[in-house]
Amino acid sequence: METPNPPVQTIVGPFDEAVIADAARRILAGECVAVPTETVYGLAADATNGEAVAGIYAAKGRPSFNPLIVHVPTLEAAKAIATFNPAAEDLAAAFWPGPLTLVLPRRPDSPVAAIVAAGLDTIAVRVPAHPAMLSLLRATNRPLAAPSANASGRISPTRAAHVLAGLSGKVGLIVDAGPTGHGLESTIAAPTADEIRLLRPGPIDRERIEAATGLPVSDNVSDAIEAPGQMMSHYAPAKPVRLGASQGEPGEWLIGFGNVAGDATLSASGDLIEAAARLFDALHEANASAASRIAVAPIPETGLGIAINDRLRRAAADR
Ligand code: TXA
Ligand code: MG
Repeated sequence: METPNPPVQTIVGPFDEAVIADAARRILAGECVAVPTETVYGLAADATNGEAVAGIYAAKGRPSFNPLIVHVPTLEAAKAIATFNPAAEDLAAAFWPGPLTLVLPRRPDSPVAAIVAAGLDTIAVRVPAHPAMLSLLRATNRPLAAPSANASGRISPTRAAHVLAGLSGKVGLIVDAGPTGHGLESTIAAPTADEIRLLRPGPIDRERIEAATGLPVSDNVSDAIEAPGQMMSHYAPAKPVRLGASQGEPGEWLIGFGNVAGDATLSASGDLIEAAARLFDALHEANASAASRIAVAPIPETGLGIAINDRLRRAAADR
């Protein structure tokens, strides 16, 4: 538990058939793989496997959960995950494959794990244009969650050497296809019926978004970038949350961990990766239960426990 992610050997392989086959095998086994997109190198994991996605946070050493972008090979695959409106259709037709991410309502029957959207009921999705990422998407036949492949707080990587400098010993394979084209993360837009909210500026600028949809584009950048935690507060439980609970009190739904069994457990064995993967489902379950209050067992403040405790403190404070 003190070392949830022991060092691994990091291989840098050229973008060819054999390396993509190795990358796909690793992804399907629940590992993360660094792979270039046309914007920056991403750290990809199977978006339908919550523990694999938790592994992204462990590798990056990210102290908090941020919703991640899901990469898919086709518009059709995106529609299995998100609900499209006409403006979203226009944007996909104009810019996919390419460096535009759409934030849309998440389909209730989506196979994507809750940790990917950090518990939100929206999902960020894009069809990338880079042949390496597209090859990996086809070889795995899974949607791939992938944030930029940098250690937390460091700048985004545009070369395999940048990834290696930040994540050596943390990721097993880096697919090297040279420098990325844009070197800047994708534009993020949230299309609705009457406007497009621009959540992050990027390679596709607002004029092109306006032209493709005929709708006004409003800036919502501060909400997405400066205060992701604030944005997530909409999805904090509606009930009081008590942290560090070694046992439940009457009227409480206890979320367990390790020795504290609870009404449901994040991980009976005290595994932080498993706990991170279950966190958002557990909060939703506790919120939907008949109990009027929620209690959560103590989580160690090490490794992924730091991100788990960050999210739990928000859940406890935000109501
Ligand atoms: O170019 C890119 O987009 C790269 C490559 C690898 O595809 N990926 C990337 O991911 O930049 P990341 O995790 O570093 O940035 C994702 C951002 C989050 O910080 C968040 O602001 C936004 O996407 N985001 C994701 N899901 C969201 C949601 N449901 N609502 C609002 N914003 C969301
Ligand atoms: Mg990033």
